[in-house]
Amino acid sequence: MEVLVLLLICFSAGEALNVRALVGDDVTLSVDTKTSSDIGENVMEWSRTDLTPDIVHRHENRRTIYEHQNPAYRGRTMLSAEDLARGIISLKMPRVRLADEGNYTCLFKSTENMYSVHLLVGAASSPVITLEEVKGEVLVLGCRAKGWYPQPKLSWWNTDGHLLPAITMPANQEEDRLYNISSTLVVERKSPNRHLICRVHQELFNQTRETEIHIPENFFPGLVQPGRTSDGLFAVTGVLILVAMVILGICLQKHLSKLPKRDG
Ligand SMILES: *[C@@H]1O[C@H](CO)[C@@H](O)[C@H](O)[C@H]1NC(C)=O
Ligand SMILES: *[C@@H]1O[C@H](CO)[C@@H](O)[C@H](O)[C@H]1NC(C)=O
Ligand SMILES: *[C@@H]1O[C@H](CO)[C@@H](O)[C@H](O)[C@H]1NC(C)=O
Repeated sequence: MEVLVLLLICFSAGEALNVRALVGDDVTLSVDTKTSSDIGENVMEWSRTDLTPDIVHRHENRRTIYEHQNPAYRGRTMLSAEDLARGIISLKMPRVRLADEGNYTCLFKSTENMYSVHLLVGAASSPVITLEEVKGEVLVLGCRAKGWYPQPKLSWWNTDGHLLPAITMPANQEEDRLYNISSTLVVERKSPNRHLICRVHQELFNQTRETEIHIPENFFPGLVQPGRTSDGLFAVTGVLILVAMVILGICLQKHLSKLPKRDG
């Protein structure tokens, strides 16, 4: 699991900040109170106005106050004592969920200053290439990616970096907001494109996941003659098994995480 920590410091009260994270990442929402002294004794409160109760995390006199905390955040938040000692309010949330996306407000009681942080949560997964069909001179490949957010785009490429024409289904969305996307690519026997890449990209989070496949030259043995009966059938079955085995064996996935990250 990738672990990503985003730390953004708000330099002036009232200025909203965007923090982006992927589902499962560890997130830190930070605001700088500009108080160079230790503020651990003070009262501060993180909240989300779209929730009832709206309290995400309340801190008083070096303690977390659980009363009135929204149950969705129970046991999932903490303030960094180290940062409080430097006048910075850092709310740590491990393993962020899609439902955590929203506008967070931090109220620092001593100065009555309010700080805003907008947390955006995305999701990504690697696409899977499957063999859909072999018919005569053509091979149909499918590529599917599940559980993306926000809506991604899918494309097929050859190794020369050329976009290949494919039929892509519009991404459909589940009740849990996640998108599935799929596409089919027809590869002709005479096609020079033997090494193919299925790429899923999400622009806002700059997320890219790729899966590659190599189709060997002897992939179309040319045994399938039109009009042949049982022999042809066996041949087709044989080709299907061969194709399936090669695809299974050669599929390799590249994970490209495009967000700034460091291991934590
Ligand atoms: C957060 O606030 C921004 C503007 O301040 C608004 O566009 C956005 O819809 C809000 N997001 C949520 C989840 O409430
Ligand atoms: C997306 O894929 C998941 C996992 O296979 C499945 O449970 C879900 O029904 C799919 N969603 C849609 C809208 O097809
Ligand atoms: C997206 O990520 C790639 C690879 O990390 C990087 O080269 C590119 O500049 C990023 N694009 C944007 C718009 O941030």
